[in-house]
Amino acid sequence: MSGEDIKRLAGKGIFPHKLAWSLLIPLRNIVLSPKKLIERLELKDDFTVLEVGPGPGYFSVKVADALTRGKLILADIQQEMLDYAKRRIEKRGLTNVEYHLCDGESFPFRDNVFDRIFLVTVLGEVENQSAYLNEFRRMLKTGGILSISELAGDPDKIPAESLRKLTASAGFGFGELRGSKWNYTMNVRKI
Ligand SMILES: C[S@@+](CC[C@H](N)C(=O)[O-])C[C@H]1O[C@@H](n2cnc3c(N)ncnc32)[C@H](O)[C@@H]1O
Repeated sequence: MSGEDIKRLAGKGIFPHKLAWSLLIPLRNIVLSPKKLIERLELKDDFTVLEVGPGPGYFSVKVADALTRGKLILADIQQEMLDYAKRRIEKRGLTNVEYHLCDGESFPFRDNVFDRIFLVTVLGEVENQSAYLNEFRRMLKTGGILSISELAGDPDKIPAESLRKLTASAGFGFGELRGSKWNYTMNVRKI
């Protein structure tokens, strides 16, 4: 890794796709494993799920695998990340995944279609957070969960208290906070 790469890893803004490999180190399991995330998402196998900012798909592979009768849509702002995730998913023979390149503002999906929308260490990188939160509320089914995980060490991490206010002002009902103040998952509901 070059000095420039290290500087970028510690900096704010969109995570560079060139460093996507660093999101796949198994040590991440200690902080938040795909299995733990799936529990926190309260997934059912027939759910329709949107993951925003999957990067190379560290969580996506296991989530797609759990959706044996359902579907996962991956939406990222970098085509290179979607391509990387797609390669990893197809290698495992999973065929229930679709891919969408984001424009940073809106999504081309219908109202009330998703049972779950989740993001892991992504929202802090999103420039227009209120536009995204409004879109998430529009696309979620009533009672559906928006699940946001934030992890220590991420330069764009949003503190839980700020996220609670942000999601409340976007009209979500608070659900629960799992984990610690350093590494947490906040689930909020469309009411
Ligand atoms: C730090 S990475 C996290 C990747 C993955 N969630 C994980 O935890 O391994 C952040 C990801 O969010 C994506 N991203 C940043 N801004 C975005 C936006 N406005 N819309 C969609 N994806 C975005 C980046 O391209 C990158 O893939």
